[in-house]
Amino acid sequence: MTVTHTSIEKPSLDIASVVNRRAAGHSLEAPFYTSQEIYELDLDVIFGRHWFFCATEAEIPEAGDYVTVNVGPHSVIIVRDDDEEIRAFRNVCRHRGARLLDQGCGSVGNIVCPYHQWTYRTDGSLVFAEYQPSTFDREQFGLRPVHVRTVGGLVFFCLSDEPPSDFDEFSRFVEPYLLPYDLRTAKVAHQTDIVERGNWKLVMENNRECHHCDVSHPELLTAYFPFNRHSEEDVPPRMRPLYERYKAAEAALTATRTAAGFPQEERRELDSRPTGFQLFHLPLDGAGASLGKGGEQVCKKLLGSITDPKFGDLSLHMQPNAWFHFLSDHAVVFWVQPLSPGETLVRTTWLVHPDAVEGVDYDVDALTAVWKATNDQDRALVEATQCGVANPGYVPGPYSTVEDDVEAFVNWYVKRIRSSLG
Ligand code: FES
Ligand code: FE
Repeated sequence: MTVTHTSIEKPSLDIASVVNRRAAGHSLEAPFYTSQEIYELDLDVIFGRHWFFCATEAEIPEAGDYVTVNVGPHSVIIVRDDDEEIRAFRNVCRHRGARLLDQGCGSVGNIVCPYHQWTYRTDGSLVFAEYQPSTFDREQFGLRPVHVRTVGGLVFFCLSDEPPSDFDEFSRFVEPYLLPYDLRTAKVAHQTDIVERGNWKLVMENNRECHHCDVSHPELLTAYFPFNRHSEEDVPPRMRPLYERYKAAEAALTATRTAAGFPQEERRELDSRPTGFQLFHLPLDGAGASLGKGGEQVCKKLLGSITDPKFGDLSLHMQPNAWFHFLSDHAVVFWVQPLSPGETLVRTTWLVHPDAVEGVDYDVDALTAVWKATNDQDRALVEATQCGVANPGYVPGPYSTVEDDVEAFVNWYVKRIRSSLG
């Protein structure tokens, strides 16, 4: 018997309708997490037109050191040139378009195309191209630059020819907070890449709330309090004693930072600007120093000009794709790279003082234990949510009172998608 299948053509998604019927205060509809069309729109509108974090300066400490960053069809080289400036270029040869650098990171004298060996200096200028006519003007064929900026040792780029101009204000506000940590000279102690089977927005949404921390992150809670955006009324009776301890730790941290002359102002501009961000202070539990057992230090050498190990956690959240924790003895940097509608790479980098010696001043397992465990727990939560939102039974649900940063992320995102659709 021959069975014939009648193909049913899938109607293309009406993105404008899905965006316009978005219910405020609720999670997004399924296509935002599952549709190839919306994923491609995200790459264009969000990652193609905004500043986003891509590396730390510590990853490219010497002239010629580079990382490559791939976002959808785009590939960008971030390289420290011979004058030690950080530059960014399209990872495309100006001859016939071959990809220049295929590795995720490395070190070069010049950038040499593997195809016909056109050769570029690390400032992007073309220095060698064989068999060209005498009229050939090498100056016309340098690598195509990409806008790149650094803020206190963090590297950002923007693929647009006209990047959002509010980055200057972000930079002016945030840099004074980062300078005491001296991340520009820090050392990469460890880096991990994990691929989560979930849409990049689910990864970000999960990062933007600590509603789940109490139950899901036992290791994290040896150092952190499970409160973020919780007002006193939000705290259930069972957690009142812990909340009291949190408020006491917060007051002590304010006193310590004030005495050290550290800037105190917090800022939350997550959805009101193209370069949305939030900068805030987090007290730590236990010994209050870092993420070791009982809140003890995990690296003997403190970062930059920090002298008091009990210096809490300075946290930075950035739209669309990054979050950071700066502690007295190390920094942890996270960023998210979309790979497909249902897959996201999460890169985590641990930075320590440049003179800190592995095995003497710090142990990699102890340094990374809390966030490795937490990342894995978050991965499972994101993957469970991806399965759920892909289920035809899913309908968007309401945010709780402690998920306003999730809503701010989603509002920032929807606003940008909506305006791109006119
Ligand atoms: Fe690069 Fe020919 S494509 S040298
Ligand atoms: Fe989490």
